[in-house]
Amino acid sequence: MSFSNSTLSVNGRQIELPQKDGTIGPSVLDIGKLYAQTGLFTYDPGFTSTAACESKITYIDGDEGILLYRGYPIEQLAEHGDFLETCYLLLYGELPTAAQKADFDYRVTRHTMVHDQMNRFFQGFRRDAHPMAIMVACVGALSAFYHDSTDITDEKQRMVASMRMIAKMPTLAAMAYKYSIGQPFVYPKNDLDYTSNFLRMCFAVPCEEYHANPVLARALDRIFILHADHEQNASTSTVRLAGSSGANPFACIAAGIACLWGPAHGGANEAALKMLEEIGRPERIPEYIAKAKDKNDPFRLMGFGHRVYKNYDPRARIMAKTTHEVLAELGIKDDPLLDVAVELEQIALKDEYFVEKKLYPNIDFYSGITLKAMGFPTSMFTVLFALARTVGWIGQWAEMIEDPSQKIGRPRQLYVGPPKREYVSISQRG
Ligand code: SDX
Repeated sequence: MSFSNSTLSVNGRQIELPQKDGTIGPSVLDIGKLYAQTGLFTYDPGFTSTAACESKITYIDGDEGILLYRGYPIEQLAEHGDFLETCYLLLYGELPTAAQKADFDYRVTRHTMVHDQMNRFFQGFRRDAHPMAIMVACVGALSAFYHDSTDITDEKQRMVASMRMIAKMPTLAAMAYKYSIGQPFVYPKNDLDYTSNFLRMCFAVPCEEYHANPVLARALDRIFILHADHEQNASTSTVRLAGSSGANPFACIAAGIACLWGPAHGGANEAALKMLEEIGRPERIPEYIAKAKDKNDPFRLMGFGHRVYKNYDPRARIMAKTTHEVLAELGIKDDPLLDVAVELEQIALKDEYFVEKKLYPNIDFYSGITLKAMGFPTSMFTVLFALARTVGWIGQWAEMIEDPSQKIGRPRQLYVGPPKREYVSISQRG
């Protein structure tokens, strides 16, 4: 990392701001001492120009549409690896050897069961509870069951909590789905791979044998790889901020799930499918394009646009290819939603509004079509996003905890409220 300085002139004073250069990507100006030197804060509410941390995990080049996990292109990881290999890479920084991969798979597999009293936890929910509400509650509640892995100062406990989170998210997600359809929970099986195990926990019933379609299992495993991490997005930043106070990892991940739920973030996959269903047929696309461009209309094309990508989201390309693979495997010749999505993308990408604002499909644009075709209800789409993103949240959380310079995150503000004033008793108020 190389350093140089930039000079800022503030009220006639010259302030030196150290510049830090990373491996690749934008350099940063360290403003840590700015307030002490000038009495001024910087102001960047949406963090559009603010780096909140150093990280070695994920790199995004939004202009070029590049995504690297620990330096490896997402396209290569999605093509050649599996989700647990990506989990190992994100957590430990290197691709595993065959022995390391076998050991990691073994360890994750043997943490997939949840404490049986979790079953009673579900009984408190209405059957029509949104599965994301259940996930926020149940993941936060894991800290009530696993006291032996909540001490964040103990490296071994951090590792156990990480493995538990990665391993138990599919089990809890499947339980949330089963509970919503009134079917009995299905326990994980140790002789299945991670994603086949998840599919079986979701779609098996006690009355007959279930074997996951290997093409669908491979496709879903790839979808998990695409969703695994994404730099300092809103939910990851939430996990980091929660973790900076020393909160236990289960509570931090629950905070990340809550943030991901929003339709501007992970909730967009559910919203995008609902949007495609509302549009219904290609002839109605112009009406919705007009709504998306109308400043007075809050409607936005869900699954389009991105804070960082000002080019095609590389994950959306792989997602689109996977969609076609899954529909072909299921013998779905013409999916009306896919017809609308493909036509909508083609129209939007030629429209000057979208071109000028550099709005492209993001990962959420095609994922819903694929997940619906696989049999998941729309309400489960963001749960699957959370399942996959758990490894990214855990990896970023661990990186922060292990950073010796780490301190509690505590932003300041620009105060625009009333100046100091004296209390008036109620009898004196008008
Ligand atoms: C994810 O950060 C991550 O990495 C997130 C994520 C991850 O893996 O963690 O990639 C996952 O959250 C993907 C994004 C999913 N969200 C959606 O698809 C919802 C629809 N998209 C938008 O809400 C929006 O694009 C955001 C929230 C994704 C990004 O918003 P920004 O960066 O704050 O951009 P902006 O709202 O300032 O938009 C810039 C302009 C605005 O117009 P002007 O005010 O400049 O005139 O583009 C317009 C916006 O109105 N715009 C859109 C639009 N997205 C932006 N107009 C119509 N439809 C859209 N989808």
